[in-house]
Amino acid sequence: MTTVHIEELTKKFGGKVALDGISLTVEEGEIFGFVGHNGAGKSTFIHTITGVLPKSSGKITMLGEENLDNVKDRMGVMPDTANLYEYMKGVKFLKFMGELKDDKRTKREYVSLMEAVGLGAEGDKKIKDYSFGMRKKISIAQALLGDPDLIILDEPTSGLDPESSIKIRQLVKQLQQEGKTVFLTSHNLDEIEKISDRVGILKEGRIEKLGTPEELKNEKQEKITLAIRTTPALEKEDVDQMKKEVVFLQKEGVYTWLEVDSERLVPDISKAIIDSGKQLYEITPKKESLEDIFINT
Ligand SMILES: Nc1ncnc2c1ncn2[C@@H]1O[C@H](COP(=O)(O)OP(=O)(O)O)[C@@H](O)[C@H]1O
Ligand SMILES: [Mg+2]
Repeated sequence: MTTVHIEELTKKFGGKVALDGISLTVEEGEIFGFVGHNGAGKSTFIHTITGVLPKSSGKITMLGEENLDNVKDRMGVMPDTANLYEYMKGVKFLKFMGELKDDKRTKREYVSLMEAVGLGAEGDKKIKDYSFGMRKKISIAQALLGDPDLIILDEPTSGLDPESSIKIRQLVKQLQQEGKTVFLTSHNLDEIEKISDRVGILKEGRIEKLGTPEELKNEKQEKITLAIRTTPALEKEDVDQMKKEVVFLQKEGVYTWLEVDSERLVPDISKAIIDSGKQLYEITPKKESLEDIFINT
């Protein structure tokens, strides 16, 4: 089943186009990550698909419903700026919000939820004394109240220390195992590719690329360059005797640079070098990370 189905969504603020014709589907049980720089339109997208902001045009179908009011109680949202009750203690706040959402948790289970987001020891502290990271974590917990089928998290890990980010990623994976669909955003591609089944790269209100982390990498990785160091040095004639897919680029200092279509050729190349009697010291594929691809788009 398709959980999120967006067609040609646009959102304008006055004359400014924040979302410029976004089409996207997220299937049930999927973790979908939206990544983009600040101002790309991530939060506007979330506000629009959750009905916080009216769309300018396009079609939004969430959990099979075009009327979002019918499915609001099946969505849990962590917005970019959360409204927290500053004078409530952490666990109390969750319990209060949970009751509004008809959450059936016991007091003990609210404490477990605090622990799951990494706030185990902070439950008895008032929210006004929470740090930025703690606020973020309790906002994530709040999005899970009422057992929603679709969980939408706007930059859940930005500004968190690495250990906390890992914990949140584990939690998201666990939610997926429970059958939930998760839509999340980040301005950090390396972060999002670690948990997402599919990633959309958002740039100036448009989807630049869409696919699994592997697909996005492969798309730009038709060519891989290899820096090879051998003694004696690898010459063009040596390379010309290898498979025709292996292309000599240049010699530079102690390195010989080759270009190949796929890193699958690396074992063949190293074998050819060794069979030719040269000593192989180094063979380094220069692969683009998703971050490079993103920055270079
Ligand atoms: N309420 C608003 N009024 C006017 N412009 C807005 C408003 N909210 C967002 N924008 C603009 O829309 C664009 C996308 O912003 P936003 O969705 O917050 O990006 P992101 O969450 O990816 O950082 C930005 O240019 C931003 O300035
Ligand atoms: Mg944002």
